[in-house]
Amino acid sequence: MKLLVVGSGGREHALAWKLAQSPRVQLVYVAPGNGGTAQDERLANVDITDIHELADFAEREGVALTVVGPEAPLAAGIVNVFRQRGLKVFGPSKEAAQLESSKDFAKAFMKRHNIPTAAYETFSDAAAAHAYVDKNGAPIVIKADGLAAGKGVVVAMSLEEAHQAIDMMLADNKLGDAGARVVIEEFLAGEEASFIVMVDGKHVLALASSQDHKRLQDGDQGPNTGGMGAYSPAPIVTPQLHARVMREIILPTVAGMEKEGIRYTGFLYAGLMIDAQGNPKTLEFNCRMGDPETQPIMARLKGDFSKVVEHAIAGTLNQVELDWDRRTALGVVLAAHNYPETPRKGDRISDIPAEADDSVTFHAGTQMVDGKLVTSGGRVLCVVGLADSVRSAQNVAYETVNRISFDGMQYRNDIGYRAAGRKQ
Ligand SMILES: Nc1ncnc2c1ncn2[C@@H]1O[C@H](COP(=O)(O)OP(=O)(O)O)[C@@H](O)[C@H]1O
Ligand SMILES: [Mg+2]
Repeated sequence: MKLLVVGSGGREHALAWKLAQSPRVQLVYVAPGNGGTAQDERLANVDITDIHELADFAEREGVALTVVGPEAPLAAGIVNVFRQRGLKVFGPSKEAAQLESSKDFAKAFMKRHNIPTAAYETFSDAAAAHAYVDKNGAPIVIKADGLAAGKGVVVAMSLEEAHQAIDMMLADNKLGDAGARVVIEEFLAGEEASFIVMVDGKHVLALASSQDHKRLQDGDQGPNTGGMGAYSPAPIVTPQLHARVMREIILPTVAGMEKEGIRYTGFLYAGLMIDAQGNPKTLEFNCRMGDPETQPIMARLKGDFSKVVEHAIAGTLNQVELDWDRRTALGVVLAAHNYPETPRKGDRISDIPAEADDSVTFHAGTQMVDGKLVTSGGRVLCVVGLADSVRSAQNVAYETVNRISFDGMQYRNDIGYRAAGRKQ
């Protein structure tokens, strides 16, 4: 059978790579794909991004299943379009994707269903927002309501920063429609973890735990990014915490959506903040897998993922049990010069070491130009190492990192430091 993965990042490369390992899969199309998916002979890039044209393509090529990677096509209704045309697709409908595409929707939903999250209020009026911030004090968090590609959240440590963020979004419209409403919420201290599950409308199948690193520089310094590295499993997610997150957050979310007439299908990602006492609160929902969490998670997943997706589309996820490589997988993102502000494109990338049992490199912002691999986006590659401990996985990943180079390459040297410092 032939499959289709929609998207062009490291997440999509990892999903396509995993799906292509199935003996019953002949080819995985990736739309539009990147320089890495272009090179793999089990994958084929398709230069289409319009969702109706993608449906035409899937119909014409007899694509058996489609998996959608990023949030933008989901929020635009790609799943609705595919379903209307009788095409099998895994992802949330446009209505279900509101859990990610509107932070106000998500917060109001969590409040209605008693799902633990930070206290908040939503504003479209700048004066009222300023007054709320003055009343509550800093630190405080200002979030654009809509999709802002990771640039819509300001964790304001001072009142001045908070007021600036409000003006940037509500007065100066710097984020356009996405920032025309803002959620202002209580600052939560603690450690973050990513909790990702697959949902078929009724049943929930949890994936392995993971943790990413949002800041650009070592020691969680510097600006926020799309993610500079991730690893799985995340030891902070103990079996007890896992059970609690399922009971208090994930299951009430799926049941709550159903109660409100919206069947949730697709990946569901809860971004968690876990306080010093181990209590989890929901920072946000994503209606897709994380990038770069997908890369280490897919590197650890055993078995035929195409069958899992098939069950997810058929509503029979309760019949699936996932099998995980017991090793830790740790992914280091290699980013372009001047990422995240204005990443430079067109830098020639050196040869990338071949995949091995303990290492694999997924592409993101890469492109083949005249037979040569060059950078074409902010996050360029994600190098994953697998080993029996976090420290050994770091060693394996960084050994590969040291064999790759391009002008302006930036990466963190400390991916996994929290887990490495934790007793296992
Ligand atoms: N209430 C909060 N308290 C402290 N930090 C927060 C809070 N909300 C978000 N953050 C920080 O900001 C980051 C981005 O926020 P998030 O809600 O995940 O939005 P997005 O991923 O859409 O940018 C989080 O990963 C976290 O580090
Ligand atoms: Mg987030």
